Amino acid sequence: MSHPRAHAPLFQIQPFTTSGHNASNASPTIDLTTNEETLGPSPRVLDAYQNFSTCLHHYPDVTAQDLRKAIARQYGIPFENLICGNGSEEFLYALPRAFCAFGDEVIFSKGSFPVYKIATQCVGAIPVETAPQDFRIDIEAILKAITPRTKLIFIDNPGNPYSTYLRQDEIEKLIENTPPSIVIALDGAYSEYVTARDFTSGLEFVKTHPNVIILRTFSKFYGLAGLRVGWAYGSVHLIEPLLRLKAPFNVGTLAQRFAIIALQDQEHAIKVRTTNHQRRTHLKNELETLGFDVPESQCNFLSPGLVSQEKIKDLVEFLFHEGISVRSLAGQGFPNRFRFSLSVEENMRTLIDAISNGLVHKKKALSHCI
Ligand SMILES: Cc1ncc(COP(=O)(O)O)c(C=O)c1O
Repeated sequence: MSHPRAHAPLFQIQPFTTSGHNASNASPTIDLTTNEETLGPSPRVLDAYQNFSTCLHHYPDVTAQDLRKAIARQYGIPFENLICGNGSEEFLYALPRAFCAFGDEVIFSKGSFPVYKIATQCVGAIPVETAPQDFRIDIEAILKAITPRTKLIFIDNPGNPYSTYLRQDEIEKLIENTPPSIVIALDGAYSEYVTARDFTSGLEFVKTHPNVIILRTFSKFYGLAGLRVGWAYGSVHLIEPLLRLKAPFNVGTLAQRFAIIALQDQEHAIKVRTTNHQRRTHLKNELETLGFDVPESQCNFLSPGLVSQEKIKDLVEFLFHEGISVRSLAGQGFPNRFRFSLSVEENMRTLIDAISNGLVHKKKALSHCI
């Protein structure tokens, strides 16, 4: 029977999943796959939530004016150059739609956030993945991959799943050596977690470089993943096309209001950054003691690795059966690593104990075979 046919490039897309596991009846009790903020949002957001009832029947503000003003104040940037989205993901999809034609190329580092690839393929553009170096995005490799067909570069800084960051001088090098006709999207989904002093999220480059766009989210550090709020900041040449593409009521009323409250509670923000920093330092040490290679994370997750891919595969399976879900990075090209979100002390203790048991369990199984 004849039926409607979607665009051919859509059939090459590997659908996004939140876990490395697909089929299993067991449902893990500790899910460490999505890098959510375990301290949650500001208590002020939760208070406001209890009292909320009067405006649910109204459509949200199409321009998200109050939220844009609050972001502009917080980050010292002009609100005219800001657009808010249904998560920052909205812009990951919108940028290829706005700037890439069929057969154009989009560059990003291998295994980066899977939506970069999906969004590229959605418009029939070609994903060009460059190799990282020492589990960091390699700027030289990105620059070398530029061709006359390149229209867009995605850089997540700090990177997911790398967890590592690029220094300000590296970002500057990228921007200075990229032709100004190519859009550079600096995705700072985890930038508020960074404590390294030589880091930049790139806000300062927007005024001087009309091809640089900054993408940010309330999903991670501000603990509002369920509300879906993100923003983009760039020159009129970038923001204007995104405004034309966006669905009018893309950010709900509650999402706009609660994001403003979250921004205003910088006391909570400091607590989140400090707690996360302490946790990741502690966990990195514990994992190194167990023999893992743990890249220096600036995010709210770690991506430990072992030399043996087999051991990692078995360990991820073992943890899953122990009720702990971590993300295998095999599908993203790193079969000797997995990624897990930092979580409350109790969950982290359970994880470390299970990892220790898993390693021993594997050793026993191996010695049996010998
Ligand atoms: C690097 C990166 N960019 C963007 C996003 C999307 O975030 P949002 O919830 O704002 O759509 C994520 C989410 O995991 C991410 O890891």
